Amino acid sequence: MCGIVGYIGFKEAFPILLKGLKRLEYRGYDSSGVVLLEEETLQLFKKKGKVKELEQFVEGEQLAGNIGIGHTRWATHGVPNDLNAHPHLSFDGNMAMIHNGIIENYANLKQILVDNGFEFKSETDTEVLLNYIQFLKNKDLLSLEMALQQALQQVKGTYCILLLSVDEPNVLFAARKGSPLVIGIGKNEFFLASDATPLLGYTNEVFYPNNEEIIILRRHDYQVINFNGEQVTPVIQELLMEEKAIEKGGFDHYMLKEMYEQPESFTNCLRGRIQLDTGTLIKTEDIRSWVSLFQKAPRIIIVSCGSSWHAGLLGEYWIEELARIPVEVEYASEFRYRNPIIYPGDIVLAISQSGETADTLVALEKAKDQGALIFSIVNVVGSSIPRMSDAYAYTHSGPEIGVASTKTFLGQLGVLMLLAMSIAEEKNSISSERIMTLGKEMIRLPHLIEEVLKQHDHIKSVVKSYTSATDVLFLGRGYNFPIALEGALKLKEISYIHAEGYPAAEMKHGPIALVDEHLPVVFLATKDNCYEKIISNIQEIKARGGKIIALATEGDQIVPALAKDTFFLPETDELLAPFLNVIVLQLFSYEMGIQKGLDVDQPRNLAKSVTVE
Ligand code: AGP
Ligand code: GLU
Repeated sequence: MCGIVGYIGFKEAFPILLKGLKRLEYRGYDSSGVVLLEEETLQLFKKKGKVKELEQFVEGEQLAGNIGIGHTRWATHGVPNDLNAHPHLSFDGNMAMIHNGIIENYANLKQILVDNGFEFKSETDTEVLLNYIQFLKNKDLLSLEMALQQALQQVKGTYCILLLSVDEPNVLFAARKGSPLVIGIGKNEFFLASDATPLLGYTNEVFYPNNEEIIILRRHDYQVINFNGEQVTPVIQELLMEEKAIEKGGFDHYMLKEMYEQPESFTNCLRGRIQLDTGTLIKTEDIRSWVSLFQKAPRIIIVSCGSSWHAGLLGEYWIEELARIPVEVEYASEFRYRNPIIYPGDIVLAISQSGETADTLVALEKAKDQGALIFSIVNVVGSSIPRMSDAYAYTHSGPEIGVASTKTFLGQLGVLMLLAMSIAEEKNSISSERIMTLGKEMIRLPHLIEEVLKQHDHIKSVVKSYTSATDVLFLGRGYNFPIALEGALKLKEISYIHAEGYPAAEMKHGPIALVDEHLPVVFLATKDNCYEKIISNIQEIKARGGKIIALATEGDQIVPALAKDTFFLPETDELLAPFLNVIVLQLFSYEMGIQKGLDVDQPRNLAKSVTVE
């Protein structure tokens, strides 16, 4: 995780770094800091807490320098405090470094350094790597470039590092393996960041360094080399992102703005893939060009984490139902460390908002080594996962800053449903009439989502009676089971209330023991082929005194009669009900968090982009 920014040019670096850190804060907010390099002196400022603490801390300071690096941390090694905050200085005080990732063999390297008289101020793995670079440089009288190359060849783990040295006062060094980095090219200046948002307003000419590359930036030129010192020519691209897309636009929180953007972001996901007036599928470069491979695949293995895993689970239900291809859904972190069986022609389908999740990335590397074809569904354009995939489809949800996935989850569902429909159409596994009905209903969804968002005030007033709950159960069956899981995850993340999602029928095999008059139980009870069964499950909870909150289809009279509170959803195809039900659960969690006075955009301990394993 963590956000990294850097600047080298002729402007004052500090305001550029500060603005960049604020934009990257969603990636981690345990501490932040900057180092400015001016006249062969390193000026360091760092502080525990959010970027605004740093801003207050530097008030009244001389912040001169037109080279600098900044970091906002999500701690892995060492508690969040001032000392463990980045940047770190080398033992001799001549170098400063920031780091995103984990140095796995830091303990061995640290022992070598301790044996050679090095002392450490922090508990971080980062300070070890920095001192190891200094150690190699001094021991073998190497240039910084050579010392960097040699150190990185010996390091295990993932990293993006930015490095400054008083010995090279006009150079900014960067290197990456695993963790993301984008470099913006300006006129006699360069901007570096973990994602493109800090570059907006400065330049739209960018390149994304590959793994195991070192970038050496001077004001007038730059050089990219690999770890063997060979020159590399980067691919320069145009950045197609607008500044207004990352602002709050009048909303109190990013999460709120992003939930309200869903009618539009979902339309953008559909655009060009399905005729927005007729619902007919369009042959596209991304999804449709891969349909024949999917159709032939003996199996699809979905790998992802968190909300993206929930989207994958629903993808399994849809693909098996419509396209009749066996699907397995794996937690990326588990897939990586067991010995999965992959058959020739198997497609590994990765789902990731950020495109940078370390667990998913390493799972894909493993799958690739075993000969699988890799297809990915990603939101962040140009991120690592699509770059290492054989093919990919973007969700086109736009930047998501709130730490909880909302509009991007909906985008993932959108691509998965279109994929399932496209394979089914090619394979003739369902009738063309059924495809047409689904297509027509898909293009109605943005309008229906708008209708669901109108329930916000009602949800807000219902939530008032539940803010003191310590546990909440979310129950659903069939297509609504993955949404029950997602509802529980959202509530945990945003309101810190313990929540569990369960298949409604499974709860009688254990969790029903939790039910008493204090336990709110959210039932996803919209009309589908499990409707009667779920009514029985509601009765079972009611008989034991649980407080029932239900999601029901408009016009239903049975469910509201059993529930204490009901949210009504417009009628739609049963396969598509999850698109609407999840919106209610997002608003429910948001209101729980707000009414408990919590920071819904940056919940404690979380980070948007989980770039460590
Ligand atoms: C969702 O609200 C989460 N914050 C989290 O579970 C997230 O979905 C997970 O970390 C996966 O991230 P990715 O989609 O960027 O790979
Ligand atoms: N491992 C480093 C630390 O604990 C960097 C973590 C990160 O990527 O945020 O400080």
